[in-house]
Amino acid sequence: MSTFEPLVFSGVQPTGNLHLGNYLGAVRRWVALQENNNCIYCVVDQHAITQAVSVWGGPAELQRNTREVTAAFLAAGIDAEKHIVFNQSRVRQHAELAWVFNCIARMGWLNRMTQFKDKAGKDRENASVGLFAYPNLMAADILVYRATHVPVGEDQKQHLELTRDIAQKFNTDFSDRIAELGLGIETQSGDETIQSFFPLTEPVIGGPAARVMSLRDGTKKMSKSDPSDLSRINLTDDEDTISKKIRKAKTDSEPLPSDIEGLNDRPEADNLVGIYAALTDTDKAGVIRDFGGQQFSVFKPALADLAVAKLAPIASEMRRLPADTAYIDSVLKNGGERAAILAEKTMRNVRDIVGFLQD
Ligand code: TYM
Repeated sequence: MSTFEPLVFSGVQPTGNLHLGNYLGAVRRWVALQENNNCIYCVVDQHAITQAVSVWGGPAELQRNTREVTAAFLAAGIDAEKHIVFNQSRVRQHAELAWVFNCIARMGWLNRMTQFKDKAGKDRENASVGLFAYPNLMAADILVYRATHVPVGEDQKQHLELTRDIAQKFNTDFSDRIAELGLGIETQSGDETIQSFFPLTEPVIGGPAARVMSLRDGTKKMSKSDPSDLSRINLTDDEDTISKKIRKAKTDSEPLPSDIEGLNDRPEADNLVGIYAALTDTDKAGVIRDFGGQQFSVFKPALADLAVAKLAPIASEMRRLPADTAYIDSVLKNGGERAAILAEKTMRNVRDIVGFLQD
């Protein structure tokens, strides 16, 4: 192999309902990437337990959420036969590589992670070690498959930069050994050509919905943890609920601007236009061409109709699928078996590179 094989990897935590942000920022884009790539899509259950049990809900809730997120992947159009869908804890090599990365990543790097600061809040002393080391496990998820592309929403950008830093440091720390074992792939690092074992993964972030905002406050990210259910559209919401939430979405009193610059400093308008654009696979400029100068009393019903048309079929499939536990579990089992073969191939090399004896 003279270059890294292109491979897409991404994951979602099973911590409650998926919402429109998860769908437009991640899952909908995963569906598009399936056309021309090999893809691995993971329900990251080990990440879900990094906060207090009262936050993630305990064992029965974790199992229910893991199946529900899997159902959402399938309902959204992920092809679990052509590609790989599984839950993280089944493939033990993720945790094994995460340990190696715990010894590669520096405290200072992790101290800079804004998601840790947000989630730990003021009481950092009481946060789990797992929450702090979370990005190392995320790097392991990706690199245990030597994945080259990771489609995520904008909030994951910093974690992906850390993933690149970890890959880079591993490649440099073990460069002689990687070369000696013939496991390197020639890559360019500035002016130098080096032998790399791990690729520097490319984040795939972008489009009009890379950061979907709360429907109640255009300056806050749409999130599972917002106490107001009106702030988000859940993928399980029925038609009436979707329409109601869009009708009630906060806006200013101006009509939509006639050019895209007019969306600056209007976070709520910008967010709704972005959602419309993502649901129709266009861009914000295209939406402004159609709706510029119109009042929200015209735009909101159009957006509500569009959201219902696109999301209601997913919701109805999601209500049906989790009832078929045996089917969902068979998808995860099969995906896990296929993923483990690939992950073990990488880990055998990693053990040799690091110097762990194995048979
Ligand atoms: P998670 O479970 O918080 O979110 C899953 C995906 O949804 C995206 N997302 C959003 N996109 C746009 N607007 C929003 N408001 C919004 N909210 C969430 C996230 O960016 C993400 O793509 N650490 C990850 C899970 C993970 C992972 C990985 C991802 C673990 N290992 C390896 C990629 C590769 C997370 O907590 O995502």
